[in-house]
Amino acid sequence: MQHWSLGLVLLAVCAVGCGPDVEAIPQVTDQMATGMGVEKPQLQRGRDLYMAHCNQCHARVKPAKIDPEYWREILPHMSKNAKLNPSQLRDLQTYLIAAHGTVYQLDQQH
Ligand code: HEC
Repeated sequence: MQHWSLGLVLLAVCAVGCGPDVEAIPQVTDQMATGMGVEKPQLQRGRDLYMAHCNQCHARVKPAKIDPEYWREILPHMSKNAKLNPSQLRDLQTYLIAAHGTVYQLDQQH
């Protein structure tokens, strides 16, 4: 309930333009893959894992909301929660860090 009302307040404040869309779950792009120095399918696998496994116990924590250093720190723990294997952990982590950067870069271009 509290979260819901906070969301409404933020929505009202941000309707006028509020910087990066921190709620975004960006689609995988060529630019993202080039930026990370990886192949696009790896990022796509990471995004699919995120969509499938990361809202079982709590709402999806959005890529932009966590700094890359903290993603690296918390993902080993969360991927165990979600029963991912090490290769899935790598794909997921690569996507989340790429997506984090994408949200902020998009804003810088505007
Ligand atoms: C089995 C339940 C479970 C699953 C599945 C799970 N989480 Fe969590 N998550 C938790 C719990 C419980 C906490 C809070 C306490 C803690 O850190 O363990 C948490 C906390 C977090 C936090 C910290 C939030 C903050 O503000 O500090 C992040 C980020 C996170 N989860 C991301 C993920 C991601 C990404 C996935 C998908 C791989 C995931 N979680 C899957 C249970 C889960």
